[in-house]
Parts: sequence; C-alpha cells; structure tokens
Amino acid sequence: MPEQIVIIGAGQAGVQAVQSLRAEGYTGAITMIGDEAYPPYQRPPLSKAYLLGSFARERLFLKPDAFYREAGCELILNTVVTAINRAAKKVTLGDGRTLSYDKLLLATGTRVRKLSCPGAELAGVHYLRDIADVDGLQNVFKAGTRIAIVGGGYIGLEVAAVGAKRGLDVTVFETADRLMARAVSKPVSTFFAEEHAAAGVKLNLNTSVEAFEGKEKIEGVRAGGIVHPADLVLVGIGVVPNDMLARESGLACQDGVIVDQNAMTADPSVFAAGDCTRHVGREGVEIRLECVQNAIDQAKHAALAMLGRPKTYSEVPWFWSDQYDLKLQIAGLARPTDQLVLRGDPKARKFAVFHLRDGAVAAVEAVNAAPEYLTGRKMIADHIKVLPEKLADLSIPMKQIAQG
Ligand code: NAI
Repeated sequence: MPEQIVIIGAGQAGVQAVQSLRAEGYTGAITMIGDEAYPPYQRPPLSKAYLLGSFARERLFLKPDAFYREAGCELILNTVVTAINRAAKKVTLGDGRTLSYDKLLLATGTRVRKLSCPGAELAGVHYLRDIADVDGLQNVFKAGTRIAIVGGGYIGLEVAAVGAKRGLDVTVFETADRLMARAVSKPVSTFFAEEHAAAGVKLNLNTSVEAFEGKEKIEGVRAGGIVHPADLVLVGIGVVPNDMLARESGLACQDGVIVDQNAMTADPSVFAAGDCTRHVGREGVEIRLECVQNAIDQAKHAALAMLGRPKTYSEVPWFWSDQYDLKLQIAGLARPTDQLVLRGDPKARKFAVFHLRDGAVAAVEAVNAAPEYLTGRKMIADHIKVLPEKLADLSIPMKQIAQG
C-alpha cells in the first residue's frame, strides 16, 4: 500500500481519483496540486449555462470544501508543478517546495490551442477554457455586440448559441466544410448548421481567418480577403494536452501522456488520467479522449492501479453538447466507414443517427432523443447486432430494439 499519493491537476480526473482512492480503502496521504485559483469544478457549464448567466459560480464546484477535509486531501491551489524527478520520486512546486510521492497521478488536462495569425494578441481576442476566461468574456458579452467566433466545434457553437440567445450579432468562421466535423456525422452537422442559421448566426464554412484587424483593440476579422467588422473575437479551435512535465521527466508522450489500459505509464510509480492521456481504447486503437466520461472512468482505473489492483479500462465513451433547446448526446466512436441509419426526422428536432459496424451498433448521435442515446450506449457496450430497417422503424420502441 502506498503511503503518499500526489496528484498533479485539480480537475475532474484529479477529484475523481481522490474519491476513488478513499472508496477503495486507501488510508495514506493525498496531496492534490492545481494551478488555478479554484478547487476542482465542472467545465461543461462554462460555455453553456454559466456564460448565459443562469448558473451560479458555486454550482460549478464538483465538491464542497468539506469533502477535501473529510477525505484528508491536502489541496494546494494557485501552484504550478515545475518538475518531476522520477528517480528521487519527488515533484518540485513553483514556490520551490518539493513533495515526495510513492505514487504519482498526472491529471493535467489540456490547454487551448492558440491562433497565431497577425493581430492574435489584440485586446478583445478571447479563449474559453476556465472560469476566469468566462468571467473576462462576460464583461463584453452584451446584446448588440458583434462577436466573431473562430472554430465551429463544441466551444464555438455553444458560445454561438448563447450569444444568439443574448442578442449578440454572431458570425462563425470554420476551416472545415462542416460544423463539429471532428465529433459528429454529416447529417448532424447539417442539422446544427440549419439551426444556427435559423437563430441568425452567420456561418462561414471552408473559411480560414487570415488576420485580426484593429489598432489597439479588435475591429475586424480578415477572412477570404474580406474584413468582417467585429467588436469581440472568441477562438475555439481545439486543445492540446498538458504533457510537458511528463515529457521532461522522460516519460513517453505523443499528443498526450502514453498510458496502458490500466492508466499506468511505463514507470510503475506514475499514472495518468483524463484529457492529458493517450491510451489504447476499447476498439484497440490509440486515442486521446477529451471528455468528462474519460476523466471519471480513467481516474477510477488509475486509483485501482495505484493500489495494486489494476482493472482494464474499456468503458464506452460518451459526450454531450447543449445548443439552444437541443441536447446532443453521443456514445461510442464513429468511423467514416460505418453504415449510418437515421431514426426519426431532423425536421421534428428529435432524431438519432446510429452507426453500424459489422451489423452491430458502434456509435449513436442523438438529438433530443434520450431513449435512443441510452439504449444505443448499452447496445454499443454489449456489441448488439440489429437490422438497419428495424432501427429506423419508429413504431418499434427502443426497448424492443435493444434485444437485437
Ligand atoms: P473542437 O476540436 O471541438 O473544435 C474545434 C473546431 O475548430 C473544429 O471544428 C476545427 O475544424 C476548427 N478549427 C481548427 N482550426 C481552425 C482555424 N484556424 N480557423 C477556424 N476553425 C478552425 O474544439 P473546441 O470547440 O475548441 O473545444 C475544446 C475542448 O473543449 C475540446 O476538448 C472539447 O471536447 C471540449 N468541449 C466539449 C464540449 C462538449 O462535449 N459539449 C463543450 C465544449 C468544449
């Protein structure tokens, strides 16, 4: 049994590891170090209800302060870890202190990918990853403001939806030929493009931003040779994993800290969980997942592995996004070669796209269709085969379809 566990990163994966370590009977010391000012909080509401103003900051926190006291977890905030010395089993903090560990968990997450075009440093160019980002954005996120959003992915579109709802004049610039191309199939991209257009959002697909124009502050976005006037810019062009510490300590990294299916690195004392990791997923393919599900499930497995009881991580990944009154729920990982089956009618704003692979459900994207999402997720886990005609037939309830 280890006596001292150190967790770097005070986010969703970090706090889950604390909870799981105690639930699994670990009685030694736990120290969790985070570079933000806040204890672990939920990021998903940041670009949704928190930006909209309908979600109080206190509700963001994953646990009350008492949780850390009762769990005997020392929480060190506002503090950067600057180095890991694996030979000495020590980490160095920004203030010069060193902490010893028996087992170390890296739960360092990701940071935003920055745009490097001319004008990228102008005032009025914002990113959205943490509480401070949203608080900074709130001050200028006002009705009538012209906001240019770079990136038509999750962040860009959730902010577009909130902006349209709050009366901003919203324009989106996306380099790909469709929205959320990384995450959803073509029919779902098309559906969301129509919904955003109907809400008054101007969409520019196949469009690269060439420069931000302005003297001291943003005044316009140059794209396709045209300058689009803008008072404010929000960039949401993806994230990069925080794997520098691991890399500098000699651990294998490749767009993420490489871990096995037990959340273990090649060093038996070092583990990693959440967005910062790359692992061989349940389908045998290396993947870096950016989602709450992975942070929670991989942290549970990391806790077990740290206590010497490794258990293979093979949970089905799931994701969600809220845009307007639309709840998009996704389970599984789609491939371009999957057979798509539509169930329901996008015009009814309630439908699902199933992805069949070798006759079995491999992924599902559901819009305002919770039964399709929940049943689909279970069918993916159980490798249930189903005929496409049956899946598409709304007169057959999902419960029955679940039998295959
Ligand atoms: P993303 O990867 O979802 O989307 C980035 C988008 O930007 C892509 O559509 C990409 O084609 C586009 N893009 C890339 N470079 C560009 C450029 N130079 N100009 C214009 N477009 C460009 O990443 P996003 O939206 O920034 O989200 C960041 C992170 O937050 C991800 O980990 C995401 O999973 C997470 N997130 C998840 C949410 C959810 O699950 N509902 C909601 C919000 C964020």
